[in-house]
Amino acid sequence: MHPSHHRYDVLVVGGGIIGLVTAWRAAQRGLSTAVADPAPGGGAAHVAAGMLAAVTELQYGEQTLLELNLASARRYPSFAAELEDATGLGLGYRPCGTLAVALDADDRADLRELHTFQTSLGLRSEWLSGRDCRRLEPMLAPGVRGGLRVDGDHQVDPRRLAAALLRAAELAGVVLHRSSAARIETVRDRATGAVLDDGTMITAGRTVLATGSRSGGMPGVPEHALPPVRPVKGQILRLRVPPGHAPFLSRTVRAVVRGGHVYLVPRENGELVVGATSEELGWDTTVTAGGVYELLRDAHELVPGLTELPLVETLAGLRPGSPDNAPLLGRSALPGLLLATGHHRNGVLLTPVTGDIMAELLTTGSVPESARPFSPTRFTLQEQPA
Ligand code: GLY
Repeated sequence: MHPSHHRYDVLVVGGGIIGLVTAWRAAQRGLSTAVADPAPGGGAAHVAAGMLAAVTELQYGEQTLLELNLASARRYPSFAAELEDATGLGLGYRPCGTLAVALDADDRADLRELHTFQTSLGLRSEWLSGRDCRRLEPMLAPGVRGGLRVDGDHQVDPRRLAAALLRAAELAGVVLHRSSAARIETVRDRATGAVLDDGTMITAGRTVLATGSRSGGMPGVPEHALPPVRPVKGQILRLRVPPGHAPFLSRTVRAVVRGGHVYLVPRENGELVVGATSEELGWDTTVTAGGVYELLRDAHELVPGLTELPLVETLAGLRPGSPDNAPLLGRSALPGLLLATGHHRNGVLLTPVTGDIMAELLTTGSVPESARPFSPTRFTLQEQPA
């Protein structure tokens, strides 16, 4: 039997939220588009909490990434409305804001510094006393020493986002090949598509690599063109607030506890997500007793009442980490191969702008000015003129 052979303008390798938004936007712009993934709509988004935390997850030295994060946060309301209209599926987008709190004097000093940094950048973030934090969120521990109220950091349900993107892509005419790419094909040093595990051959004008944490090891891509992306493990828990029970929290609540980050993301359907570890352990996705213990211990210090809730799910996923924690969006060193990967902690947040940027690149050949700092070429060693 001959393997089947298909041709498209664009092949997107990887059907997580980043691959799907790229494919959806490409198809909307009239490009014949296919996605290769054995389980499209899965990937890291199945694990992620869905915080849109541009301001509360701000790190020193990441001001360029902050601009992109803020741009994507601003895009979310219209992006969510468009996706919901296109599919009839809700995303669970909640403009609920975030409260970041301190539990001891060291945490308080850390949070004060973050506040100074945020305000120096003109970001909206208000310092609250411990009492004011508890007035906003009465389930918080009495020992909370103060906190930051960030009304612009919202949340979305990543599983619903993935489901809606999958539906939108199909409705826009994207063809789904439910198989992994075995290797990227090249002809005369140009990417020309991929061969899939099931033997299907796909020829494409442009191939987009969007396989998240696995992007750094795609067979067929020459070493110099592979993105420097590595897996960063995150363990996460899902609790459930029983129907009829008063809501536990009205907004996302987060804290640094003994140097580790913990966040609680309450959904309207009663799900309460507790995340997340950050571990450099390669491809390991084991849920460990230690990981669950640390998350529950820290979450319990923050909101003591939550240990009464049923624990309904424990999971570990792999963030696609890059050397500077920012995504790689644009042309790779291999002609014909584009990258949309390396989103690290911000994949859900950056989904709307990633779709816009990749569609622009696929249709015009260049990326918007705001995306230039995220070109994959920033990691390519270039000979300096003498
Ligand atoms: N942005 C949250 C996380 O990666 O855990």
